[in-house]
Amino acid sequence: MQKLLISGKRKLKGTISLSGSKNATLPILAASILANKVKLNNIPLVKDIFTMAELLRYIGLKVKIKNFKRLIELENNEKKINTLAPYKLVKTMRAGVLVLGPLLAKYRKAKVSLPGGCAIGTRPVDLHLFALKKLGAKIKIKDGYIIAEARKGLRGAQIKFPSISVGATENALLAAFGAKGKTILSNCATEPEILDLIMFLRKMGCKIENFGRKIIVRGNTKSKNFINHKVISDRIEGGTYLVAAVLAGEKITINKIDTNIFKNELAILKKMGARIVISKNSVLIMKSKNLKKISISTKPYPGFPTDLQAQFMVLMTQSKGVSKIKENIFENRFMHVPELRRMGAKIEIKNQTASILGPTKLTGAEVMATDLRASVSLVLAGLIADNRTIINRIYHLDRGYEFLESKLKKCKAKIKRI
Ligand code: UD1
Repeated sequence: MQKLLISGKRKLKGTISLSGSKNATLPILAASILANKVKLNNIPLVKDIFTMAELLRYIGLKVKIKNFKRLIELENNEKKINTLAPYKLVKTMRAGVLVLGPLLAKYRKAKVSLPGGCAIGTRPVDLHLFALKKLGAKIKIKDGYIIAEARKGLRGAQIKFPSISVGATENALLAAFGAKGKTILSNCATEPEILDLIMFLRKMGCKIENFGRKIIVRGNTKSKNFINHKVISDRIEGGTYLVAAVLAGEKITINKIDTNIFKNELAILKKMGARIVISKNSVLIMKSKNLKKISISTKPYPGFPTDLQAQFMVLMTQSKGVSKIKENIFENRFMHVPELRRMGAKIEIKNQTASILGPTKLTGAEVMATDLRASVSLVLAGLIADNRTIINRIYHLDRGYEFLESKLKKCKAKIKRI
């Protein structure tokens, strides 16, 4: 099994360019089931994207990935469509469940494996099914599979989500594309990745009015023949490198960053005392000293993202005083805490709130990655720790960070994979 070795305390200097967003690419790939020909640019070359590509091939789409150009071409010639998403492809990547809406909308039936829980929580899909049922689908769960059908096709409906879910909003949008009549979705997620999906569906010909938490879709759309789309940059990757730069940077520039969608995080970093110069598509971070404590609470966008919680926690180990993080989205998202404690961090957890005392000297140790974002927090800790940090189970990192080591190495970090 591969490991990462990091020798900490290097002063990072250089430029990092962000990759395309994994979480925007995944639902757009699922949307390609509804299309004829699609060309997607700026895709990140990470494991989850390859798994989704494999799932689409299994369903019957022609999928060609051009690694060098960060391009994926998809074609649905409808010859041999299989409306099944098997367990082996959904179990490692929960976003596989996003094929349910489009399959149901276009082929009126689907059998999709239940994704199951994961390290950060039980992660049910009841909100996805709630929306699809409102659109007229008959759904049962059998042998670990969601078996759904809509013999006469889906019909537009009014759907008010009882709570906000990114995935359920995406699945409902995808299903509403093929549903007859108007669908009004309310209490929707408003993450930038959802806006990118809406842009894509509009290019396909769908009439969508977006009022933030309320989205109106006029469905029964027949897709335009060819769609060309460039995926937005990865804001979670961006947030991760912002933290890396504040922690260990002498002078780091982050390029290809849409600073409009980072307002919150940039404001938090500035409040903590980070020296940041913001331009339109890049951010310059200079050596920052005497960081101040801060309290954050994870919330759906535009609130602070749960996907950046673990990274900001490492920053809090270096800020003066007791910082706090309240995790409101997932019930078990402090798995990185015991590992950070092994590196010397002083963190206490009570209910869903972590209190982090800083500044604390971190020391390299052998640690274990538990999920995607927890893993990268250990990399960040390794960058500022004394001695050597060894991170096990790094396959989690490969699910979502494109060329992590080479991007950090380019900035003079001492990091290698063995
Ligand atoms: C997406 C992101 C993930 C991010 C999360 C929250 C992708 C591929 N993944 O995941 O990186 O951490 O948003 O920003 O985009 N819930 C239910 N029932 C449901 C669906 C969700 O109870 O049917 C709960 C979840 O357990 C969680 C909360 O709702 O507590 C939010 O989850 P959701 O927004 O759906 O996250 P994902 O779409 O799975």
